[in-house]
Amino acid sequence: MSSRKLVFSGVQPTGNLHLGNYLGALKNFVSLQKNTECIYCVVDLHAITIFQKPNELQNNVLETVASFLATGLDPKKSTIFNQSSVSGHAELAWILNCVSRIGWLNRMTQFKDKAGSDKEKASVGLYIYPNLMAADILLYKATHVPVGADQKQHLELSRDIAQKFNNDFDCKDFFPLPEPLIAKNISRVMSLRDGTKKMSKSEESDYSRINLKDSPDEISKKIKKAKSDSSSIPDNLKDLEKKPEALNLINIFSEISKKSLEKTLIDMSGKEYSYLKTKLTELVINEITPVGKEIKKLLAEKAYLKNVLKKGKEKANIIAEENLKNIREKVGLI
Ligand code: TYM
Repeated sequence: MSSRKLVFSGVQPTGNLHLGNYLGALKNFVSLQKNTECIYCVVDLHAITIFQKPNELQNNVLETVASFLATGLDPKKSTIFNQSSVSGHAELAWILNCVSRIGWLNRMTQFKDKAGSDKEKASVGLYIYPNLMAADILLYKATHVPVGADQKQHLELSRDIAQKFNNDFDCKDFFPLPEPLIAKNISRVMSLRDGTKKMSKSEESDYSRINLKDSPDEISKKIKKAKSDSSSIPDNLKDLEKKPEALNLINIFSEISKKSLEKTLIDMSGKEYSYLKTKLTELVINEITPVGKEIKKLLAEKAYLKNVLKKGKEKANIIAEENLKNIREKVGLI
């Protein structure tokens, strides 16, 4: 197998990105672009598996590009584009729909969460969403995929699909089996209101998350209101793990301050949570508000953002078309 390394990842344009996206994915995207070929995609076809107002969708795509750039992605180093502009994603997704198995999709926990109690009413697109995700990755024969822990199951499915395609069409190693790259220390940032749920764009209360565009005042209010504990901060991880909200705040602190969890606990043990919250507020404001300001600045330059997408689409399309030619051949399509 070749040792070529290619990174691919995607982010849905469903509104404001938050601290979970930033710590779990975007920061990794930026560090990977230094030494590796990277392709980053705004996955608008994934977004429409749940109804989106057309105007809002367009704005959200541009806002996601602005967020990519504001966190440090460089369009000269990384290929940045939106999924629907490269039609190969949809074409390969169809082929993979015929490779993937219904039993595999039935195991996907994210579908169960998103479809809620009335699965009959969910779109068919939402159900086969993981096959489209596999197509995104395999269209470029990507080898590494930086994601948060919530996407691990989808990545495993992508590997199963790649393996089955290689077996079915007797082409060992045709698709590399993509490796997830999951942030070691903070693979899952949790909701500020409920430490057992991940921080998410879809949670109703805005107090559950810190958005990249939040003002210092909003960040401060949200951290102040975050659920914590009335006792003081314990000196060991075992006790901390019994308090998921407190663990989450300390995890975020440790990640942004670049101090290990153990060292953070040594520094914080015995202190009140209000002390941690004050320190955390300072850190988060310093880290996030410059990003938020840059997003707002870039949003005023829509023509520039569209141009980044156009150039990215041209680059992505060259790789996609070349790979699709071989894929069609393998499948026997003329
Ligand atoms: P999406 O748009 O929900 O999230 C984008 C990225 O942010 C990560 N993330 C988190 N990480 C840590 N803590 C959190 N609370 C948190 N919330 C979100 C996600 O894991 C993700 O890495 N299906 C994908 C998008 C996608 C994709 C792909 C990803 C489509 N095709 C191909 C990789 C490869 C999604 O909905 O991510």
